[in-house]
Formats: sequence, structure tokens, C-alpha cells
Amino acid sequence: MTNGRLPHHGLVKKPEIGFSLLAANIDLSMKTESQAIIRPARNVRGSVHLPGDKSISHRYAMLAGIAEGPSRLENYSTGADCASTLVCMRALGVAWQRKEGNVVEAQGRDLSLAVPAGPLDCGNSGSTMRMLSGIVAAQRFTSEMIGDESLSRRPMERVIQPLSAMGAQIASREGKPPLRITGSGLKAIDYKMPVASAQVKSCLLFAGLFADGETRVEEPLRTRDHGEVALRAFGAQLERKGNEVRLRGGQHLRGIEARIPGDLSSAAFFLCAAALFPGSQLIIPNLLMNPTRARLLDILAQMGLRISVTQLDEVHGELVGSLQVEGGRLIGATIAGADSAALIDEIPVLAAIAPYTEQGIEVRDARELRVKESDRIAAVASNLRLMGAQVEERDDGLKIPGGQTLHGAELDSFGDHRIAMAFSVAALRAQGETLIRGAEAVAISYPAFFQTLEEVAER
Ligand code: S3P
Repeated sequence: MTNGRLPHHGLVKKPEIGFSLLAANIDLSMKTESQAIIRPARNVRGSVHLPGDKSISHRYAMLAGIAEGPSRLENYSTGADCASTLVCMRALGVAWQRKEGNVVEAQGRDLSLAVPAGPLDCGNSGSTMRMLSGIVAAQRFTSEMIGDESLSRRPMERVIQPLSAMGAQIASREGKPPLRITGSGLKAIDYKMPVASAQVKSCLLFAGLFADGETRVEEPLRTRDHGEVALRAFGAQLERKGNEVRLRGGQHLRGIEARIPGDLSSAAFFLCAAALFPGSQLIIPNLLMNPTRARLLDILAQMGLRISVTQLDEVHGELVGSLQVEGGRLIGATIAGADSAALIDEIPVLAAIAPYTEQGIEVRDARELRVKESDRIAAVASNLRLMGAQVEERDDGLKIPGGQTLHGAELDSFGDHRIAMAFSVAALRAQGETLIRGAEAVAISYPAFFQTLEEVAER
């Protein structure tokens, strides 16, 4: 990979685009359309080293910016989304450098950011816009937050409403970006979140750091807790009781030195690829195992994947382990209720492999998937149908029978990284080649995805 070309295994790209070039640069603009061709595989074997977790990278970058003193973040996510967070932090006066080995070194500004010279460009990243809005809402200046076409369609009322109740003034385009946030001295809030969203929870806890009084946030279902864990790692005190978190305002943070564990939602694509082949074997070292994220491992184990975890460790409050998996049977599953919230980022790939399972997969209570980077329920149904699968699309999920044979087809990523990766995995077991348009979307969370997939796919 010296000339920006991809190795000519199962992947061909037209027009020429180097995923490695995207990975190396921080400006991952993804302006050039590319397509990937995935050939079927016989098996999946090898080891996969994943970039740092996206959810943790965003939060560490934001908290490093408002902490006192320097932070050093190793294995920072290579994705364009986390680069968007860094770009916004720089616009807010945070000095940072990106070094060899995906290390980010940042100099914190102890809660007080600088007036940005222009709009804060969140790119495709809902996490950046929602979580950072909690921080800029407490700064005594006006920030404009903008995003790409996909982000501009996503709901922001969920942060606008509680942040306004805390005292910020926020203008939007009918609850959608761009957001124009005029910060002020915030007052604490006692807030029962109507939507189960870890981004909203983190946004409000970050805002609560600056607020007068104790902020209390209650979530309808337990969502990922990286915001709480990261706040503690940076020295804040907070209390959790059941689904409720309390945080006292006026606390200062201090910078940290941390190594970010491998992204479990990116691992999901390889775990599902391994699940497709009896006799597959994968090793994934340094993987995030946070219990609020690891439900996928239980589901895949129930479906027949043999999983063992070695070298379990805790780093800054996050569980990290090495995973060994072996493919066996692939039974099927029902994902509903709290599981749908816990698996929200992994449902597209589980649904994409569903036709190859024995009993199929049913997904319920996952309406949130319709307002992600794309309408992921519609995108999954459309691509599966193009591959010849029978699918029932529902308002809040999908029902996909098992025991189906799929054929290669021309698919679309819908500009959504997780759709591009999910169908690259489904293509491994299809008959014939699959072409995925808009393949450059993988750079949002995992620029090296195709190279890694080619390394582990045996043909
Ligand atoms: C995330 C939470 C989830 C998830 C997103 C990352 C986070 O979104 O889909 O990819 O880092 O908190 P919601 O909070 O909107 O459910």
C-alpha cells in the first residue's frame, strides 16, 4: 500500500481512491466516490487489530480539551468522525497534535474555550454535534454547529430541549442542524430522557460540569456509559444509581494519559464474518469489553459462535480484553427491548447475515435505526432484497427468515459506513461478486476496513 492503491484481492475500486490515504490524513473529506467489489470467501482466519473505540475517542478528545493540563491519547480512532471532533476542538482554541501511531496530544483549557472564527463543522458525526453542544452551551459566546447532508437531516431536539431548559439559547432549522448556540451560565437540570441515547446523556453530563447545582439525568434504558466512565477518568465525581446519574457542577478535570481500547462496533463486522463460516478462527487483541457495549458477544455466542476472552484488564475504568473466536453453527436470534438499544450499532450487520442463519433474525423496538447516518432499516431491507433475500420491513425493525441463499448484487452504502461494512460481510457468503457503491463511507469509522477484511478472508 505505497501508492494509494488497494491490493487487488477481492476489492477493486473505481474510480481510484486510496483508503490508506484517507486513513493517513486528518481531513477525511470523502469527496471522491468509490466502489468496492467483494468476492465470496471460503473461510475467515487471522488476527485483527482495531482502531480505538469511536465513542471513547470522541469523549476523551472533548474532555481533554476542557481539562486542566495536557492529555495523551494513544490508539485514537482513525475514523473521519473522531477527526471532526478534533477539528471542532481546535476551532474552539484547543491545541492538539496528531503523532505517529494514532497518538493525539492535546493541551486542555480548563473549562474555558475560545470563540471560534467560523462554524464548527461536525461533518457526518452526530456524536460530535450532540455531545459538543453540551460544552459550547456553557461558553459565553455563540457557536454555529454545521454538518453534512446526512447529519443535517438528523434530530437535534433531544439536546436542544434540555440544554435550553438549562439556560442556553439555541436556534435550529426545526430541530435539525445547523445549530446556533449562545452559551450562558447554566443551571443544573433534573431530566428524564424520553429517548434512550448515550449521546444525549453525555451531552447533559458535560453541560452539568459547568452548571450551578447538581444535574440529574435518568435514562429509560441503560445505554453505553462511556461518558460517565470518561468523566471519572478525567477526575470528576459522579454517582450512578440504577438508570440515574448525578453530577455536581463546578468540578474541574485533569488531563490523562490513556490507551483507547479497540472498537467493539468495528469488531462486530469481523465477528459476524467469522460467524458465517464453521471452522473460522479470529483473534482480536486489545478489544473494548465494556458491559454496556458487549451484548453482541452474548448474542453471537447464543447463535453458535465460540468466544473466549483472555487477558481481561481495566484501563481508566474501561474493560479491555483479547478475544478468540471460532465459527460453528449459526442459529438465529430475536433482538428486542433493551437489547435493541444495547446493540443499536451492531443490528445492521446482524441483519445482513440473518438470511444465512438457521432460524433467521427478528429485530423489534429499533425505530432509532431510522434516524442514524441513513435510515438503516430501509437500507438493510433494500440491499438484502437486491441480493435475493426475503425480508419483512417493519416500522421498528425487520424480520428476516433464515436458510436463504443470496447472490452477489450491486448495492448502495446509502452514504453510511455501517451499511457499507455490513454488506461487505454479507457478500462473503453470497454466490458471485457484490459491488458496493459509496464504499468510501467506511472511512467515517474505519478507513482500513477493506484492507483488514481482505487480510482475513480466505478464498
Ligand atoms: C453513541 C451512541 C449511539 C450510537 C452512536 C454512538 C455514543 O447513538 O448509535 O454510534 O458514542 O454515545 P445514540 O446515543 O443516538 O443512541
